[in-house]
Amino acid sequence: MKRKSDRTRPSLESLIESEDLGLEVLHPGGLEITRELAELCHIQKSQKVLDVASGTGESACYIAENFGCEVVGVDASEYMVEKAKRKAENRGLNIGFRKADAHNLPFEDGTFDVVISECTTCLLDKEKAISEMVRVVKSGGYVGIHDVCWREGTPEEIKQKLADIEGEKPETLEGWKRLFERAGLKEVIAIDKSYLMHGWGKEIKKKIGIVGQIKIFLRMIKNWGISGYKAIRESERIFQSEHIGYGIIVGRKP
Ligand SMILES: C[S@@+](CC[C@H](N)C(=O)[O-])C[C@H]1O[C@@H](n2cnc3c(N)ncnc32)[C@H](O)[C@@H]1O
Repeated sequence: MKRKSDRTRPSLESLIESEDLGLEVLHPGGLEITRELAELCHIQKSQKVLDVASGTGESACYIAENFGCEVVGVDASEYMVEKAKRKAENRGLNIGFRKADAHNLPFEDGTFDVVISECTTCLLDKEKAISEMVRVVKSGGYVGIHDVCWREGTPEEIKQKLADIEGEKPETLEGWKRLFERAGLKEVIAIDKSYLMHGWGKEIKKKIGIVGQIKIFLRMIKNWGISGYKAIRESERIFQSEHIGYGIIVGRKP
């Protein structure tokens, strides 16, 4: 079983999840990929949708507003759950955000029409997290994720380095598809969205701005010293390399 990631260690994920970066969407592709995922999962009005690892709640709010369905969001971080609750309240949305572990979802079997999870499964025990998503979706319902992928032929030492720094263990796009099939899902589709990864780092920096970037640099040095800064630069290089891709994977529970 994959170790749970330690967010007190230097990593890009710790920075992205930190409290004051002002980032609302914590995945590449913005809300356009959220829409694409929702459409591939055939989300429709009045359906019940679960967003696993819902982060700031941006996608859950977007889906509730644009698809008119009932959305529930869970996240392991108290901070994220509170932020998401405030956001939904400010937008006049009734979304049930709660703290929960993706490996052990607090819902009965077959509760949801659709279960999604964006840019998080590679951080988790993938088999366990996918089997939980499959368990809580209804028969005939859809499970869909988008996540980081390795390109075919990536050397093992690079994979190990990312696992050591970020606690992330992506699959190749085919590998994700196989995991979905092994979890019992049918009609599994996997769509290559790798082009989204390449501009993401720049996009984040632009959103954070120069002052934000300086603050982050100082925080990195204060929290983790030069060695922490170097580790984060190393994972940034891996994320910007030709070894990294991105993909959407969707399957239907028979
Ligand atoms: C990269 S962010 C993605 C957030 C959101 N899905 C999005 O795309 O904007 C990863 C999220 O996973 C959450 N997370 C990490 N481990 C988790 C777990 N075991 N169970 C539930 N949420 C988890 C983090 O708190 C964080 O909000």
